Amino acid sequence: MLVLGIETSCDETGVAAYDLRYGLLAQALYSQVSLHNPYGGVVPELASRDHVRHLLPLISQVLDSAGRSLGDFDAIAYTRGPGLAGALLVGASVARSLAYGLGIPAIGIHHLEGHLLSPLLASTPPAFPFVALLVSGGHTQLMTVQDVGHYQLIGDTQDDAAGEAFDKTAKLLGLPYPGGPALAKLADDGNPARFPLPRPMIGSDNLDFSFSGLKTAVALICRNTDLDIQSRADLAASFQQAVVDVLIAKCVKAMKFSGMNTLVVAGGVGANVSLRVALDSAGTQHGFGVHYPAIEYCTDNGAMIALAGALRLSKGTGFEQHDGFGVMPRWDLSSA
Ligand code: KG4
Ligand code: ZN
Repeated sequence: MLVLGIETSCDETGVAAYDLRYGLLAQALYSQVSLHNPYGGVVPELASRDHVRHLLPLISQVLDSAGRSLGDFDAIAYTRGPGLAGALLVGASVARSLAYGLGIPAIGIHHLEGHLLSPLLASTPPAFPFVALLVSGGHTQLMTVQDVGHYQLIGDTQDDAAGEAFDKTAKLLGLPYPGGPALAKLADDGNPARFPLPRPMIGSDNLDFSFSGLKTAVALICRNTDLDIQSRADLAASFQQAVVDVLIAKCVKAMKFSGMNTLVVAGGVGANVSLRVALDSAGTQHGFGVHYPAIEYCTDNGAMIALAGALRLSKGTGFEQHDGFGVMPRWDLSSA
């Protein structure tokens, strides 16, 4: 079974060809970072127009490198939501038109399902069931995953997502968009013990998160202190350590709560090296294994959508009637 995957939910145009038997055949990605950089964040209308410019050339590129033609595909998977409405519509329109023309199914994939299945792209994939930590720019969630399509939310953020907190804090420190990787780089030269920042909800008796207070604490320090270069690095390191401490504490609690012994980490913040080091050592200490996607599949990409589409196709779920271009800018994964 061969599936073409299309991702256009935000500021990355991603396309991939995934074969259920042979794995990932080809993928191509175009990042809009330099387009949005001058504005300090994603400009939705610019994002949609740029997806229009890049999607068809990327599809041709993937077909060429996979050595396949459109007629070889069994389905077209695309990100149906959540995300920016206009950006989602570009991918949905192309995917559903192609599927209609080829007489094959179009499979609308939940973006977070793509992320949480992305560790299955690895050469030693995790086995079901597992707990998934989804840490992206828009979400910070803990889920139990029994199988493809069987997801239960067990913890969620009450305000900012972890990636959003990274991005906003990076802005306070004068770093360029996207803030997460820039802040992590600055933190490499800093002392994480210099600023005693709060660890919001770390001791709460649930699996929920809150990150907006942490960002506010950083804002107050920035406002009241004249920060030299070393102090900025120390503040970045202290912030990163606070986020990592909270994520670790909640993951350990989630593993105990679920009784499972595999943790899967997905989403852009999953690329953070300090988080990976701390999770690995928590896993060793508490007896659970941790799986990550390769760094390039942590952030948005077409491979995770093609993979999710292929798995849905093999299970016979997720097909749609060709009845319109309904995208879901807001969409709860447990109802996908
Ligand atoms: O999953 P993703 O590409 O897009 C969403 O679905 O949101 O995640 C993007 C988020 C951004 O907030 C970005 O700053 C963050 O992931 N991010 C990082 C790192 N790389 C990306 N945050 C911390 N450390 C990183 N190395
Ligand atoms: Zn994402």
